[in-house]
Amino acid sequence: MQRVEVCAGKDCKRSGGGPRLEKLIQQVVEEEGLSNTTIERCYCQGECGYGPNILVDDKLINNVRGRDAVLQALGLAQEA
Ligand code: FES
Repeated sequence: MQRVEVCAGKDCKRSGGGPRLEKLIQQVVEEEGLSNTTIERCYCQGECGYGPNILVDDKLINNVRGRDAVLQALGLAQEA
């Protein structure tokens, strides 16, 4: 079970996080068939300047922009 929490704070939303990022993560999760991943929202994590931020199993990950960043955050990035 993997738990993803997307910061729904104002600054993260403004930098492309929040609901938009949630949608992208949802898409990736479906495409990758990650059936035991849950996606929730969380409050501001106090690293607003480094957003958009998400938590993956309580680990804070900054600057999650775009699909590649999501794959990496979920531990699915391809080795170069
Ligand atoms: S708004 Fe996301 S960490 Fe503060």
